[in-house]
Amino acid sequence: MPGGVPMSWMVKWPGAYPVYVASANGAKFTDVDGNSYIDFCLGDTGSMTGHSPAATVAAIREQAGNGITVMLPTADAAIVSRELTNRFGLPLWQFTVSATDANRHVIRYSRLLTGRSKIVVIDRCYHGSVDETFATLDDAGDTVAREGNIGAPVDPALTTRVVEFNDLVGMEAALAKGDVAAILMEPAMTNVGIVLPNEGYLDAVAALAKKYGTLLIIDETHTISVGTGGMTKFHNLKPDFLTIGKAIGGGIPTGTFGMTQEIADAIKAKVELEIIDTGGIGGTLAGNALSLASMRATLTQVLTEENFSHMIKLGTSWSDGVDSVISEFNLPWHCSRLGARGEYLFAGSAPVTGRQAADAGDFELEQYIHLRLLNDGFLLTPFHNMALMCPDTTQADVDAHTAAFRAMCKDLVEA
Ligand SMILES: Cc1ncc(COP(=O)(O)O)c(C=O)c1O
Repeated sequence: MPGGVPMSWMVKWPGAYPVYVASANGAKFTDVDGNSYIDFCLGDTGSMTGHSPAATVAAIREQAGNGITVMLPTADAAIVSRELTNRFGLPLWQFTVSATDANRHVIRYSRLLTGRSKIVVIDRCYHGSVDETFATLDDAGDTVAREGNIGAPVDPALTTRVVEFNDLVGMEAALAKGDVAAILMEPAMTNVGIVLPNEGYLDAVAALAKKYGTLLIIDETHTISVGTGGMTKFHNLKPDFLTIGKAIGGGIPTGTFGMTQEIADAIKAKVELEIIDTGGIGGTLAGNALSLASMRATLTQVLTEENFSHMIKLGTSWSDGVDSVISEFNLPWHCSRLGARGEYLFAGSAPVTGRQAADAGDFELEQYIHLRLLNDGFLLTPFHNMALMCPDTTQADVDAHTAAFRAMCKDLVEA
């Protein structure tokens, strides 16, 4: 394996080599040397349920003995679809292997339905390895390839228009040309630090989408941290499509997209049965029986209101702990909160745009913080300073982090 890792970006973990895991349960894991850690990364949300939640494992065990993938629906598919409707409001659902796939598919459908070429994304967004999203704004406000974008099939300016988060003037300008098929966005940014929407921003984006005949895709993959129905339920959003993956499978690869009845009818009218399998929407293992069994158990028994209230309480407590240290040492840092998630940046106030959040990053300092906390027995996501709580996280875990974070900040200030 190049770099000694099964996927290239895993070399980003701090230190000469990543920790190799022997076992993971609940909010903790043990490495192959026998060291144990409190896990605030939780598979970057893939294990927001805690590692190997009992109900999900029981469902997986049962399904594994009864057919893992058959390319036919199982009864769980209907149960999971109903559960997703109850949470997010959209009546119809399709299943994929990942959130990335869900985003790719709804982009294709949006182009099909509108006959338009462009996708609007938010500057510094992340929606998986989706070509249209690896674009950014240059200093002149033009859409250009994002740094690190390798092997782009075409110049991203041909497929994409980038807009700053919380910028309604920019959004209207991007839509006004009438060539935008869809807006793909997280309702709060979570992949460049946390950036929260201004009051009324999400409703105004929805209104602009409607005004210019553009479809609205809300990606709830990370923002489900605010509660069972994510920010869509919280803000009563009415997107045309909703995408999500990661946590809803309890760690088993899966993704899904929801749509309105109107969208489903329009797709049906445009897609021919004979060639439905070669249109760019697919995945042999999409909707496999194992992933649906794990989603059924995870949604109905693990990602529950009760568990969310525990996780959100601890998320608040984690951020309170970080804030108390920031103010004790008078650091020019800011901690943002998103339900069960907290994250600090190296700027004194909350960012309003992705650009501001990116400018408040410091890769070298982050590498130090991640390595130091790892040595102290805590895992944060390798990408930024984000922590997530699961149903098994305890107040003692949070307090231990606050103490370690305080000791680290004290050393940093003294150094
Ligand atoms: C908001 C969002 N959408 C989609 C994805 C893609 O998820 P996956 O890599 O599981 O396909 C991610 C991954 O970090 C994400 O943060």
